[in-house]
Amino acid sequence: MTRRHTRVGPLAATDARAPRLDVDALIDDSAVGIIVCCGSGGVGKTTTSAAVALRAAERGRRVVVVTIDPARRLAQAMGIERLDNTPRPVTGLDLSRGGGLDAMMLDMKSTFDEVVISQTTPEKAAQILENPFYVALSTSFAGTQEYMAMEKLGQIHRAARKDGSYDLIVVDTPPSRSALDFLDAPERLSSFLDGRFIRLLLTPAKGPARLMSAGLGLITNALTKIVGAQVLRDMQTFVAAFDTLFGGFRQRAQQTYRLLQADGTAFLVVAAPEPDALREAAYFTERLEADRMPLAGLVVNRASQQPESTMSAEEAMAAAARLNGEASVTAALLRLHSDRARMVASEARLISRFATGHPDVPMTVVPALPSDVHDLDGLRQVGALLASG
Ligand SMILES: Nc1ncnc2c1ncn2[C@@H]1O[C@H](COP(=O)(O)OP(=O)(O)O)[C@@H](O)[C@H]1O
Ligand SMILES: [Mg+2]
Repeated sequence: MTRRHTRVGPLAATDARAPRLDVDALIDDSAVGIIVCCGSGGVGKTTTSAAVALRAAERGRRVVVVTIDPARRLAQAMGIERLDNTPRPVTGLDLSRGGGLDAMMLDMKSTFDEVVISQTTPEKAAQILENPFYVALSTSFAGTQEYMAMEKLGQIHRAARKDGSYDLIVVDTPPSRSALDFLDAPERLSSFLDGRFIRLLLTPAKGPARLMSAGLGLITNALTKIVGAQVLRDMQTFVAAFDTLFGGFRQRAQQTYRLLQADGTAFLVVAAPEPDALREAAYFTERLEADRMPLAGLVVNRASQQPESTMSAEEAMAAAARLNGEASVTAALLRLHSDRARMVASEARLISRFATGHPDVPMTVVPALPSDVHDLDGLRQVGALLASG
């Protein structure tokens, strides 16, 4: 994989320019088998992953993209509104270079179910799947979505290695508040699953009453009063049935973690040109480095576009003030121009600050398009901008 280590010059403190992220070199590199798009919520992870996947496919790679929460119209355009947890071919692409694109939308619950089924006997699996605690855990526990995204990546990777179906897997990440959740949640989930609270509950289900300490008996009695006997029984049955899976879960999470550290993996961190998103991106790039995970670069998405005219924000504002009262439309336009120019300047400062702090991180800037990206043409356009920015 191409990793650039261009250092910026002595002007860095005032005018830092990041090395350019060469997206085409990245997607054309046959050694790159996994691209993970991460970043904080709403910055364009899903859009970027779909755009990268489509561009790679049209450049000849056999790609599968796992999206998490595509906007409805985008999902429709890619033919993935159905949640059946299986990648399906995306139609309407130019595949003259021999590539292909399959896409799927991650279904958290079915992925969790698949893991349970693969890890235990059919009877035990059935018992777990219908337990109300399992249903709650598999759909709403914080971190389940992150865990399942990793699990699905692991599954597809193993299958692709066996049957050669794909040579590039592009993964979108869940809409967590923090990008770090994607890396932390699986560990949090597996330590919850084999944590002390669960062990405590497990004991009464397993052993005869006399094995219980008096203290634990009291806790159980109190819990019975609070949540009711049936609920407590469900909880204990669930934990007892789940017990056999603890090891399996942890092992799989660790396997996928190692996969993320492998040379064939590349992380694209997506951020909006805003202080919070860029701060989050900075944390994330540092964390990737600490965890020895290969960072390809930063995508600054939805950047304001430079106004056509070269008039500065101040000049436009001054002109608007002179026109005051006479030509209100012109004055309004001049003010708009001034706001835009100011926005562009402030985004440039933020980007430059990031580049100063992280001079080794290659970067590409994608401007905000006039409307949402909800069809293949829109994705193609974002892909071209990613590659040229
Ligand atoms: N460069 C862009 N220009 C215009 N709209 C964009 C751009 N990137 C993303 N969007 C839109 O922003 C919204 C959020 O993007 P999305 O990719 O779903 O973010 P995330 O997955 O990070 O939550 C979507 O409606 C998408 O179409
Ligand atoms: Mg998303």
